[in-house]
Amino acid sequence: MLIPNTHYGELKDSYLFARIAEKTAAYQREHPDARMLRMGIGDVSRPLCPAVISALHGAVEDQARAETFHGYLPECGAPFLREAIAAHYGRRGVSLSPEEVFVSSGASDELGHILDLFSPESAALIPEPAYPAYVDANVMSGRRIVHLPTDRAGGFLPEPDMAGDADLIYLCSPNNPTGAVMDRALLRAWVDHANARGAVILFDAAYEAFIEDPALPHSIFEIDGARTCAIEICSLSKTAGFTGTRLGYTVIPKELERRGMNLRDMWVRNRTTKSNGVSYILQKGGAAVFTEEGQRQIRETLKLYKSNAAVMGSTLDRLGIWYTGGKNAPYIWMECPGGLGSWAFFDLLLREIRVIGTPGEGFGRCGEGWFRFSAFGGPEDTREAMARLEELIRRMGRE
Ligand code: MLT
Repeated sequence: MLIPNTHYGELKDSYLFARIAEKTAAYQREHPDARMLRMGIGDVSRPLCPAVISALHGAVEDQARAETFHGYLPECGAPFLREAIAAHYGRRGVSLSPEEVFVSSGASDELGHILDLFSPESAALIPEPAYPAYVDANVMSGRRIVHLPTDRAGGFLPEPDMAGDADLIYLCSPNNPTGAVMDRALLRAWVDHANARGAVILFDAAYEAFIEDPALPHSIFEIDGARTCAIEICSLSKTAGFTGTRLGYTVIPKELERRGMNLRDMWVRNRTTKSNGVSYILQKGGAAVFTEEGQRQIRETLKLYKSNAAVMGSTLDRLGIWYTGGKNAPYIWMECPGGLGSWAFFDLLLREIRVIGTPGEGFGRCGEGWFRFSAFGGPEDTREAMARLEELIRRMGRE
C-alpha cells in the first residue's frame, strides 16, 4: 500500500490563521449583525497602486494581440523584472546581477519550495516566536527543528550564541510577529556565525519596506560576507498590496556554495523543472512597483499602515502595556493583560469587543501570554478597534 508522508501526522491540527478564521466565522454566524474589526492575519486593506493597475491593464492588452502576446516566459523570471529588482537593490547600494534574482509567486510559497535545496538531514534553526509556515514546512519535509526562544528581556531578538548545531537558519527582520528589527551589528554576528559554521541563512525580508530608520538594514546583502551564506526571500504582498495578486522574489548570490555545489545553479535547475514561471501579466504589474512612480505611490499606502501602527502604539503606551514593533514594522506584539493566556485573550476580545488579533502562542510556545495586532487594516477600523480595546482594558482594571 502507498505510504503517505507520515510527517503530516506531526503537524498541529490546523494552521494558525485557519483556526482564527474558523473561530471568527463561528462567532459571526451566531452574531450576524456584529461589526467585526479584523486585525489578525496581516492581509492588506488598500488596493494596488495606480501604476501597477495601469501596467496590469497594459499587459492584458499585450496578451490580446499576436504581435505582443507572450507564451511561456523564462522559468526564473522575466528579464525585465529581474533587471528592475536588481536595479532597485543597486539604488540602495547592494550590487546584484539579474541572474541572482528569481521571480516567485510569493514569499510563503517560496519558503516552502526552497527547502528542496537542502538535505532533510540538515537541522533548521527557527528563532521564535516565528511565522508558523517555517515550522510547518520543515515538519512536512521531516527535518529536525531547533527552536530558539526569544523573550522580552532580549527585545525578542535572537543571538547567534544561542544557535546550537543547526545549519539552516531562519531570520526575519522586521520580524513577523514581533515587529523587532535586527540592526547591522546583530545581522553581522549572524552572517559571521553562518560563514564560520558553513550554515545558510534564509532571510525573510517580507517587511523591509516598513523600515524608516536609515541605520537599519533592509537586506542581508547590506552586510559584508552575506553573499557566501545567505538567501533572501522577499514579497510584494506587504510592500505593494500583492497578497491577493501573488508575486515575490528570491536572491541567491552566485558565490553561495556548499560541499562544492552552487545553490544558485541548483535553484535554476529546480525552477526550470518544477515551475513554468509566473504569469507575464503579474510580472508586468510587479515591474511597475520598481518605477519611480510606483515607489512614490506605494510609499503613500505604507504611510497609512504606519500611521495605524502609531495609533496602536500610542493606545498601548496610554494603557502602560509593554510591546515591541509598530516602528519600522507593521506588527505590534503586546503582553496580554492580567496574565491571560494568548488564546484566552483572543476569545475575550472576540466576545467582548469583536476585535480579531492573533494569539502569540500560534507563533511558538514562547509566544504564550503575548498577542499580535496587524496594522494593515483601514484607519477607521484601527481607531475603532483601539478605542474598544482601551475601554475593555480600563474596565478590566476596575473589576
Ligand atoms: C501573517 O499574518 O503573519 C501573514 O500575513 C501571513 C502571510 O504572509 O502569509
